[in-house]
Amino acid sequence: MNAIEASAARIRVAGPVPELAVVLGSGWDRAAELVEAPTDIPYPELPAFPALNVDGHAGILRLGRIGGRAVALLRGRKHAYESGDAAAMKGPIRSLAAAGCRILVLTNAAGSLDANMGPGSLMLIADHLNMAQRTPLHDEPGSDRFVDMSDAYDPALRAQARAAAAQAGIALHEGVYAWVLGPQFETPAEIRMLGLLGAQAVGMSTVPEVILARHAGLKVLAFSMLTNMAAGLSDESLSHAHTLRNARAADQDASRLLTAVIAAI
Ligand code: HPA
Repeated sequence: MNAIEASAARIRVAGPVPELAVVLGSGWDRAAELVEAPTDIPYPELPAFPALNVDGHAGILRLGRIGGRAVALLRGRKHAYESGDAAAMKGPIRSLAAAGCRILVLTNAAGSLDANMGPGSLMLIADHLNMAQRTPLHDEPGSDRFVDMSDAYDPALRAQARAAAAQAGIALHEGVYAWVLGPQFETPAEIRMLGLLGAQAVGMSTVPEVILARHAGLKVLAFSMLTNMAAGLSDESLSHAHTLRNARAADQDASRLLTAVIAAI
């Protein structure tokens, strides 16, 4: 048995077999409290899962139910900026697909390029710009590495998410997410460039996981919590601590949104 099969087998026996998986980014971890009858598996017990070393990320897979749906919540992700490796989340995503998940919900903290989306706003990702121009698939054999990325963010799931947010009375914007490698924040000139290219949000995660998920045949839905105006668009200076602080201020809306969406899709 390889590491992915071993991780999938462990996930299948630990709790209800998850139908959907959610990667909880900065600001979204509070949703983990909403899981009924949770079972936790620390990443070190899942051989295909990475070791983590960023503040605010726990490295725990939580299994259980939200709104009646069997879910797997990933509390902590490994970012490409930590190692330069865009395939850092290959093991977890393939393990979850092998365990039976059919939908991957990705969440992140991002900077806003849109004056109508201030700190604390929530955005449904409609599409992305891979500004890092990295891929988690470069060592993949075979022709299925040529993944179709049109409609990567599933249009039917997005429609259901918009309806669920409206019904729950949660304002949900929709826009294009630009992935930059980081870990440094952007320059104001870079943000002006991203705005001209059509981005409403900028961040350092999610896109590699979307590519991996589409390659694994999973449907994808993704959300950003805007924790700050992007560089040059406000007087505030940018820092990781600032991101986490603003994320905490919006975490209640974020977990309400996730519950409503999970029950609806
Ligand atoms: N830029 C990139 N990543 C981010 C930002 C930002 O302004 N805010 C939170 N994550």
